[in-house]
Amino acid sequence: MCGIFAYLGPQNNASEIAITGLKKLEYRGYDSWGVAALDREEIAYYKKVGKISAYSTGDHAFNPSHLAIGHSRWATHGGITEANAHPHFNSAKSIAIVHNGIIENYAKIKADLETRGYHFVSETDSETIAHLIDSHLPTHTLEEAIKLTMSELEGRYAILVIKKDEQKIIAARRGSPLIVGIGKQEFYIASDIPAFLEHTNQVNYLDDDQMVVIDHRGPQYFDLRTNSPVEKRLITIDWLASTAEKGKYPHFMIKEIMEQQETIRRAVEQDNDEIQKIASAIENAYGTYLVGCGTAGKVCLAATYLFSRIAQRHVNFAVGSEFSSLQHFIKDRSLMIAVSQSGETADTLEAIRAAKTKGAKTLAIINVKGSTMDRESDFSIHLKAGPEQAVASTKATTSQLAILTLLAYACTGQLAEGKRLLLETQSQITDMLNPRYEDHIRSLADLLAEVESIYIIGKGVNYAMALESAIKLQEISYIHAEGFAAGELKHGPLALITTDTPVIALISNDETRQDILNNCQEVKARGAYVIGVASENNPVFDFWIKVPDAGISQGLVNIIPIQLLAYHLGLLRKNDPDMPRNLAKSVTVK
Ligand code: M6R
Repeated sequence: MCGIFAYLGPQNNASEIAITGLKKLEYRGYDSWGVAALDREEIAYYKKVGKISAYSTGDHAFNPSHLAIGHSRWATHGGITEANAHPHFNSAKSIAIVHNGIIENYAKIKADLETRGYHFVSETDSETIAHLIDSHLPTHTLEEAIKLTMSELEGRYAILVIKKDEQKIIAARRGSPLIVGIGKQEFYIASDIPAFLEHTNQVNYLDDDQMVVIDHRGPQYFDLRTNSPVEKRLITIDWLASTAEKGKYPHFMIKEIMEQQETIRRAVEQDNDEIQKIASAIENAYGTYLVGCGTAGKVCLAATYLFSRIAQRHVNFAVGSEFSSLQHFIKDRSLMIAVSQSGETADTLEAIRAAKTKGAKTLAIINVKGSTMDRESDFSIHLKAGPEQAVASTKATTSQLAILTLLAYACTGQLAEGKRLLLETQSQITDMLNPRYEDHIRSLADLLAEVESIYIIGKGVNYAMALESAIKLQEISYIHAEGFAAGELKHGPLALITTDTPVIALISNDETRQDILNNCQEVKARGAYVIGVASENNPVFDFWIKVPDAGISQGLVNIIPIQLLAYHLGLLRKNDPDMPRNLAKSVTVK
């Protein structure tokens, strides 16, 4: 949530470089944006309400500068106004800061500062940071003032600071991601790698309670708790810059849906020994607990069905934000599997840390190499899906499902068979995702564009996918959508069905099929318009979305047409599919 970016280097258009970088982070926040740059010993700044993508190079005349910081906001404290947009300043405007996260004790600090004569111009928690640094400056260097400030802040944050007469950028983090990009005599800092990938793929990750000071000589890292220097390992990111661009597609969402023509293959091309080692950890664990938020949480729920069926193994599942209330059952021999695209989601990360505190082992199934979960977990499996930039998770979802399916097979000593089946699924998906298929889904979107509600039903793994379908439809179409276990309808939700209520049924060709077809008859008898996602047509369907018969991977395959439906509904309803209202890609606040 919120994207932050900094540039320091020989190029003299630092503000424009910062804006270009921020545009690539827009999925993290798009309420308002701003940049601040050192301009002949002064700090020049520019702020705007709205999306940074609306800005074109040259819209504002920036003075030459070699150093700039910027921010794209997802509002937490204070409305969406220019005053609340970052950067924020001390009263003399000699210090500029941008901040991602929440300062939990800001109200108290603000009150203290106000009694000491500090004047606030925004409603944000972030402005507190600028004044607090200022309050320490008369008797301290900038570095010392920032260290003192950090020691007083509670909560989760990543901040960037510049000061008017110092040619350096200082960044610090606790909880929110910050990555330093190392170019040729030029340096970048960003919340996520795609922001500077066109300039460099050499990175250092800042860990919690660390600070970096970057001047023309390069970065110097410090541990804020011990006040000592820290050495960093240079990591090479193996994403191509082009993978972070839309290419021929109008939106990242459709690009990422289409990339599923090859991402399953990449996901299953894992090192056999590694997968087998992790499968042994699952087998030997005293309870395995899957944790994820949002879509990743639905994937975890799906995994409970996959492990039960494939490996005859019980694995537990908890929603990331609920885990703290459930953690009491974790033992030192437990295994936690955290599922996350970004590897940065605050609630999932907190669950990993809680599990580690209890001595449990942790496995992260993540897409972003080097992310906090990757670094903090005992084991990691990378999705290798390439950057996912649309807020709606699509290709990461199916890659996560593929990896969990693979692990379930590995637990039964059938890793090769699991790989073979998933590669078959990959070729089925590749065939399915053709322009005619998209047209068919578009025609359904035309029918549903004005409806009030859509219900999705499923059984077994398709129940988890019905919940995931609801998330996709909610976030992209803004239509009220809800997923149900099909068998639960008659225990309450059936009362919601009236004439022409759309009900989407996700169907597998297994023992659940007849039950769910019966449920379709029940809703149809009450007037529902039944949309079947199935490998075979059935008279009960008013509209049939054909999917390949994918056996154990049916849940993975069934979600893909719903992703397409959500995308086309979003377009028809004039929503921005990449940046749904009120949401942000990486939820690094609690
Ligand atoms: O990066 P993560 O996978 O941990 O993100 C978890 C959720 O925030 C994410 O899946 C969210 O629900 C998506 N917007 C769903 O499309």
